[in-house]
Amino acid sequence: MQLQKVGVIGAGTMGNGIAHVFARSGYSVTLCDVEQSLLARALDTITINLHREAHKKKISAEDNAAALKRITPVTDRSRLADCDFIVEAATEKFEIKTEIFRDLDRLARPEVILASNTSSISITKLGALTRRPEKVIGMHFFNPVPVMKLVEVIRGLATSQETFSETRNLALKLEKTPVEVNDAPGFVSNRVLMPLLNEAMYVVMEGVATAEAVDEVFKLGMAHPMGPLTLADFIGLDVCLDIMRVMLDGLGDPKYRPCPLLIRMVDAGWLGRKSGRGFYKY
Ligand code: CAA
Repeated sequence: MQLQKVGVIGAGTMGNGIAHVFARSGYSVTLCDVEQSLLARALDTITINLHREAHKKKISAEDNAAALKRITPVTDRSRLADCDFIVEAATEKFEIKTEIFRDLDRLARPEVILASNTSSISITKLGALTRRPEKVIGMHFFNPVPVMKLVEVIRGLATSQETFSETRNLALKLEKTPVEVNDAPGFVSNRVLMPLLNEAMYVVMEGVATAEAVDEVFKLGMAHPMGPLTLADFIGLDVCLDIMRVMLDGLGDPKYRPCPLLIRMVDAGWLGRKSGRGFYKY
């Protein structure tokens, strides 16, 4: 079946980026979040980012305007009932995703694939919440979504080959590069990335070097576009902490213990760029 209408749940950083790339590739997008103000902010961000692409001549002014028109913001989740494919990009909490997956399973047509942009929660567990575990899959995008080429496509234990192929093809239509990964805490990206960021935090906590010095080491010595602490602020320190906890819990190895400085900063509400303060001030 030709997919035309895509639902995106969650209009935060990842959700608005996902809506952006689907709309840019010609899909109608129903973007759903709980509050009108969150949707308004997401549409503002998408407008700015699409203009940026038009300004850089990556898309034409007409395509830019058409992409924006393809996005319908809604607060009522039942409006996703006519979608052909749904991506969940809500807050990274299992209880929140539980409620959403149960509800989506009730309201979406039985053949519709339910994908999650989760960065670490088990796809197998999300699938088991539904009556269609073979149609539940991970579709993990990277921030900034319009720029980063990777989509980790994660197979849960019950995910069917058909669901995998369809999701992979969809990623290709978005001009992304899908990489196949099996379900395990943190998948590949965060299993490897988060311990690096966490270790960089230990280095700062122990006074081995400043955040600026650690970031310089990685930018100049390893050609990373952002140093690990700038990247942690960019991802969100609360997100980093949640992912470390999922890996510690799921893999049971103390090497995934979150850095105490990370916990303290999240407790203080220093969540990185989005809150104005993290390892740096914004
Ligand atoms: N939408 C559209 N275009 C955007 C954009 C956005 N949101 N953000 C940046 N761009 C474009 C810019 O217009 C620019 O385009 P040109 O190359 O045509 O000039 C290009 O991207 C680079 O941007 P800038 O020149 O503004 O800045 P930069 O060169 O410093 O790059 C960056 C910014 C792309 C974010 C770069 O610093 C980078 O790649 N950082 C690492 C990001 C990363 O690691 N992301 C993954 C995080 S992990 C994650 O997301 C998953 C998880 O589960 C935690």
